[in-house]
Amino acid sequence: MNSGEKEFAYTRADFDNVRKLLYQLTRIHLADSKDSMVYSRLVRRLRALKIPGFSQYLHFVQTHEEEVQHFINALTTNLTAFFRESHHFEVLADYLSHHSVKRIWCAASSTGEEPYSIAMTVAETMGCFDAGIEIIASDIDSGALQTAQAGIYNEDRIKSIATHQRKQFFLKGKGSQTGNVKVVPELARMVTFRRINLTEHKWDIDGPVDVIFCRNVMIYFDKPTQLEILQRMVRLLKPDGLYIAGHSENYSHATHLVRHLGKTTYHPARVQSA
Ligand SMILES: C[S@@+](CC[C@H](N)C(=O)[O-])C[C@H]1O[C@@H](n2cnc3c(N)ncnc32)[C@H](O)[C@@H]1O
Repeated sequence: MNSGEKEFAYTRADFDNVRKLLYQLTRIHLADSKDSMVYSRLVRRLRALKIPGFSQYLHFVQTHEEEVQHFINALTTNLTAFFRESHHFEVLADYLSHHSVKRIWCAASSTGEEPYSIAMTVAETMGCFDAGIEIIASDIDSGALQTAQAGIYNEDRIKSIATHQRKQFFLKGKGSQTGNVKVVPELARMVTFRRINLTEHKWDIDGPVDVIFCRNVMIYFDKPTQLEILQRMVRLLKPDGLYIAGHSENYSHATHLVRHLGKTTYHPARVQSA
C-alpha cells in the first residue's frame, strides 16, 4: 500500500486496526485483499468530519459512540436484488401453500429488495396483502434500513421483474422522482424493519418463526460464529420451519442443527426448545 499517493495517511497498521474494530463490533472478517476497499469506504467519513488521517479517525470512532454506526454502515456490503436467487421464492410460495405461516424473518435485509420480494410472493400466493403474515426485516446497517423503509428504487432495479408484478407492486415516480419507483403502500405495510446485529446476544424477534431468510451474510463471519447464529435461528424456528441460506452458504456439516431439503434450503434437524 503506498500511502504517499493517497489523500489521507493510511498504513497497514490502520487497515489492521479497522479490521479489528469491525470484527469486535460485527464479527465481519475482512480479508487482506480488502485494504483498498476500506480506504475508499471510510475516506468519505474522514472528509465529512475533517479528520486528517486514519489513525485519528479510529480514535474518533472509539471515543464517539455516535460514529460507531457510521463506521459500520460504511463497511458493510449491501449487494442485493429483487428476487435474487429466484428459486427460493418458488420454495417459499410452495411452503406457504402447504403450511399455516404466521411469521417470516428476513435477517440481513439490506436495502429492502429481499423482504419486498418475500412480501410480493406472500401477496401473490395468498391472494391478498393482509393474510395475517408478519414479515420482519432486519439488518445491522441503519442506512440500508432507511433506504428499505423508504421503498424507493431506481427503475433499473425492477427491470427483471415480471411486467404484471411491476404494475401491481410499484408506483412510477413523477416530477423529481422521475426514473424512480416506489413500492405500493399495501406492500410496504406488510414489512416491519428493525436494526438487529446478528452477533449480539439478544435479538428483537419473537418466536416461533415459520421461515427465516438468512442469505449472503454468514459468508462474512467465521465458522464458529456461523454455527452459533445458525443454532440460535434454528431454536427460533418451528419444528417444520424453513431456513433459507445464500448460494454460497452450505450447512451440510451441521447435520445436528439442520436437515437439507434442497438447494440451500433446510428444516431444523429436530425439535429444539425455544
Ligand atoms: C450482501 S448483503 C445480503 C443482502 C440480502 N440478504 C441478499 O441476499 O440479497 C449482506 C447484508 O448483511 C448485513 N450484515 C452484515 N453483518 C451483519 C450483522 N452482524 N448483523 C446483521 N446484519 C449484518 C449487511 O449490512 C448487508 O446489508
